Amino acid sequence: MVQLSTSVYLLGGLLGLFLLSPVLMAPTPASMCTPLRTLNNSLGHRRRYMKHNFPINYTIRVHHKEIFKLSDVNRMRLQLKGLDELVLQRLWFQINQGVLKKIIRVMPERHPSRPYTTELERRFRDAEGVFVQSHPAEVFQQELPETIQDTWDHLTEEPDRVPESSWRFASPNSLLDNFCRTMHCLFSECFASTEAPRDYCSVSHWMKGR
Ligand SMILES: *[C@@H]1O[C@H](CO)[C@@H](O)[C@H](O)[C@H]1NC(C)=O
Ligand SMILES: *[C@@H]1O[C@H](CO)[C@@H](O)[C@H](O)[C@H]1NC(C)=O
Repeated sequence: MVQLSTSVYLLGGLLGLFLLSPVLMAPTPASMCTPLRTLNNSLGHRRRYMKHNFPINYTIRVHHKEIFKLSDVNRMRLQLKGLDELVLQRLWFQINQGVLKKIIRVMPERHPSRPYTTELERRFRDAEGVFVQSHPAEVFQQELPETIQDTWDHLTEEPDRVPESSWRFASPNSLLDNFCRTMHCLFSECFASTEAPRDYCSVSHWMKGR
């Protein structure tokens, strides 16, 4: 009797593990890598288009949650044990969609960086489309951890309801630096190199190249 229930538990446990693991572990699907690498190639020109075509020290107003750095990713991972990577990836898409929109909004029709930025946004949308398609729909209805939901709610708030204290000023170039670094960290499987493994989530990795 005891033995039977043990094996039933075991079986149930294994089955649960089997059913849950694709959602919990959520490895980056290989199909994501093509659009993300394309996006990465565009981002290689960010300095030229985000810095040189703007006045010195030019900044735009963003929500403070839109300044999403590697340190924020690392902090969230530490604070929320067992946090599903997919949640952070969803957050990354949500944040950077807003960032791109805000950068485009300050550029007049004929601004020399506009074609670059709209192309970048198009590539970002392509990646997002593949991201949504490559996971079952239920994944996107999963309840988010409270702090993440909180951030999410702030990001989707009507701009005129955002309190003054929540706004920050950031340069377009620094916003795209964060965009690029957090992309490498959250989708590192797509940027992994076998000869020289790199920790894209470590701040020092990005400082070395400067
Ligand atoms: C990402 O883009 C940078 C800059 O263009 C390039 O040096 C790097 O090799 C790219 N990484 C991958 C994995 O494509
Ligand atoms: C730009 O910002 C730097 C650092 O804050 C400052 O030293 C410099 O004077 C600023 N340049 C202009 C043109 O405002």
